[in-house]
Amino acid sequence: MNTVAVVGTQWGDEGKGKIVDLLAADADIVVRFHGGNNAAHTLVVNGQKLVVRQVPAGVLHPGKICVIGNGAVVDPIALLAELDNLQRHSLLSDPQSFKLSYEAHMVMPYHGAIDRAREARLAKAAIGTTGFGIGPAYEDKAARIGLRFVDLLDMKSFAAKLERNLADKNAYLKSILKAKPIRGEDLLEQLKRARKRLLPHLCDTGEYLEDAIAAGKRVLFEGAHGTLLDIDHGTYPFVTSSSCLASALCAGAGVALSRLQAVVGISKAYTTRVGGGPFPTEIKNRLGERLREEGEEFGAATGRPRRIGWLDMVLARHSLRLNGAWGLALTKLDVLTGIDPLKICVAYEHRGQRYDRMPPGGALLDRMRPVYEELPGWSRPLDGVQTLADLPAAARRYLDRIGELLGVPIVMVGTGAGREAAIVLKNPFAA
Ligand code: GDP
Ligand code: IMO
Ligand code: MG
Repeated sequence: MNTVAVVGTQWGDEGKGKIVDLLAADADIVVRFHGGNNAAHTLVVNGQKLVVRQVPAGVLHPGKICVIGNGAVVDPIALLAELDNLQRHSLLSDPQSFKLSYEAHMVMPYHGAIDRAREARLAKAAIGTTGFGIGPAYEDKAARIGLRFVDLLDMKSFAAKLERNLADKNAYLKSILKAKPIRGEDLLEQLKRARKRLLPHLCDTGEYLEDAIAAGKRVLFEGAHGTLLDIDHGTYPFVTSSSCLASALCAGAGVALSRLQAVVGISKAYTTRVGGGPFPTEIKNRLGERLREEGEEFGAATGRPRRIGWLDMVLARHSLRLNGAWGLALTKLDVLTGIDPLKICVAYEHRGQRYDRMPPGGALLDRMRPVYEELPGWSRPLDGVQTLADLPAAARRYLDRIGELLGVPIVMVGTGAGREAAIVLKNPFAA
């Protein structure tokens, strides 16, 4: 297959960066199609760690083209800092290797200020956003007042739109949110400098991708966040502001639905979530702390401790159905070493009723009692195991049971943070 999407099936941080990096070896082009720098994808190669925020995680492979599609919201100033950092590592030095859609919307400092001020006002009811202004940037897109990269082609009208937005946002910040306004004096100058650097990378990415696919190039679409953070199908309102499904790549990269050949869903071997919202299988005791330590579960975007829970088949089925997954990549199996027994949530119960599916609209999710199945654990460390045969029998049993419960084959298994630490059972580009 030549066109493959990799998407998270949980609440983000499933290890998309690692799987994308692994699959990118066989791709020509890697594409981000939604979200912004609220995403943080970690790559570990030769013991060196690199976190990418807006640039696709294919970036470590020389000769690959990295594309940010129109569905993303991009902070131009943060993007430049990210590009500088990558170039310091001698990556993306060829200007042709990075393409940014003319139609992508810009995240501005006023978006971040509004995001943070709203969260502060919500206090205990806060969503727990990253505070990077992603929601307010998507709001402006839907309200048709957003600034797009194409607007940089006409700086006079860009400056006028920016001034109007700044005035409106500052009035909102001051009088409604009771927050400090944004100082706009040097913003235009900063954006002019960003413009100079970014213009050579701007491109009609939809057309570029269509031509590449037609020419037989292999394209890997990199989802950000996770299906449970999807604006429509996630645990609303504790979600992000974009569609996080594989199908979002059609709108978000400008690629026809019929072009997508396979979707790989990614899940950790347990569950994590950063920020507020329901989490039926959350583990709130020492075991949760232990998994947080051993799995290094601290947000790559904000450093916040991630909440930890058991694997949840109700939510996994929901996500795999929505994405039409061809296969599942299960990461961080190594982190479960030494935990016995292991639990898998197979259904929920609420007031005597059993739920095998997500309750409608995610309502009552915070009241659902998980029904667990227990499986034996294993004690031998898995670090870096690359074949099923080298896994302890109990680890194989755990994988088999997940595959059975989900009806979707497990195609990859993560056994450590490094690029090589994986069992690849089926590579979609070789299928
Ligand atoms: P993403 O947002 O989905 O790309 O995931 P993050 O990078 O935010 O978080 C996943 C974390 O788990 C990162 O620190 C990865 O290096 C790490 N990781 C990914 N796969 C594995 C694995 O199989 N085992 C272990 N131990 N760590 C992994
Ligand atoms: P990756 O791509 C984990 C969560 C935030 C918050 C909610 C809304 O690394 O998997 P936002 O700033 O998007 O308005 O925050 O969504 N969130 C993520 N959690 N990983 C992510 O991305 C996330 N992107 C957003 O923590 O709960
Ligand atoms: Mg992440």
